Amino acid sequence: MVNNSGANRLNIRHRPRRIRQHPQLRRMTRETMVTPADLIYPLFVTATEPGPIPSLAGQERHTIDSLCREAEAASQLGIPAILLFGIPSQKDEAGSGAYDPDGIVPRALQRLKSEMGSSLVLIADVCLCEYTSHGHCGILDAECAGRNEVLVLNDETVELLARASVVYAAAGADLIAPSDMMDGRIGAIRHALDENGFAETPILSYAAKYCSAFYGPFRDAADSAPRFGDRRGYQMDPANRREAIHEVELDIEEGADAIMVKPALAYLDVIREARHRFNLPLAAYNVSGEYAMLKAAVEKGWLDEDRTITEVLTSIKRAGADWILTYHAREYAERIFPKVVSADT
Ligand code: PBG
Repeated sequence: MVNNSGANRLNIRHRPRRIRQHPQLRRMTRETMVTPADLIYPLFVTATEPGPIPSLAGQERHTIDSLCREAEAASQLGIPAILLFGIPSQKDEAGSGAYDPDGIVPRALQRLKSEMGSSLVLIADVCLCEYTSHGHCGILDAECAGRNEVLVLNDETVELLARASVVYAAAGADLIAPSDMMDGRIGAIRHALDENGFAETPILSYAAKYCSAFYGPFRDAADSAPRFGDRRGYQMDPANRREAIHEVELDIEEGADAIMVKPALAYLDVIREARHRFNLPLAAYNVSGEYAMLKAAVEKGWLDEDRTITEVLTSIKRAGADWILTYHAREYAERIFPKVVSADT
């Protein structure tokens, strides 16, 4: 508790350690604390085989029943929102499962809404990649099929995304979250929602979404890895920060109500800059690869799980994110947060 004998032999003036000695003073000095209210819990619902996701230890492909149970548990723990991804029974070239009113996501939304009412914010991820047979985020130009240069047709895709958004809003989604990175989709989705009686339904834009290697485990979970080519023709180059600011500006101009940076950990500088420049709620997505990497090291016994999770989530909030999308949401709220509150972790 006391530094040496309390004497100041070296005549040191500034001693930042003074403030770190008393455990309660440390608690009072803590600048950032992640609470369950900061978290959004991504969940997968499937029209095919339910069960654990091997690459995402502890996460599952849910049936609508098990999804409802997980959502209820999350809500009880103080988590305010879930983000829903669907795995359809069939995929096709046009990703038609994404905008089928009887598709897996609309059915899940209807059930969740009727069971949970307004106790949980239901966020619908909008993208075609879980629904297309080729695994890309939109309609492909016929010329490029099978080749390595992939061209996703922008405007044709945007029309389908707008259609899917209206279907999800009608099924009970409280927030529409397009993750495709097509140009002009925020404006088109806003227009379609307004025209169809959903002027009050907000949009969370995946505004700065990078072409990241950290999505690997998600693509396993959703069976959405591109069959050929990659997503570099529509997702952003990880090397670019100014471009991210431009993307966010455009989405705000087109009517986004909240913005997202994705992934989170390798992009904390982008989160920080977006926080400074924009005044909308800012989300950051702690993606599947970030989660899987941590879990794998924990399994090896190389990292202390709860401390590492806390440090990761705290860093994202400290960088400036208001909302953190994370697969750790439930375990953080349930097992870790009580320790953080009592300053054990
Ligand atoms: C759909 C989508 C992806 C993720 C969220 N929405 C995958 C992708 O772009 O390939 C990734 C989420 C994660 O890795 O946790 N476009």
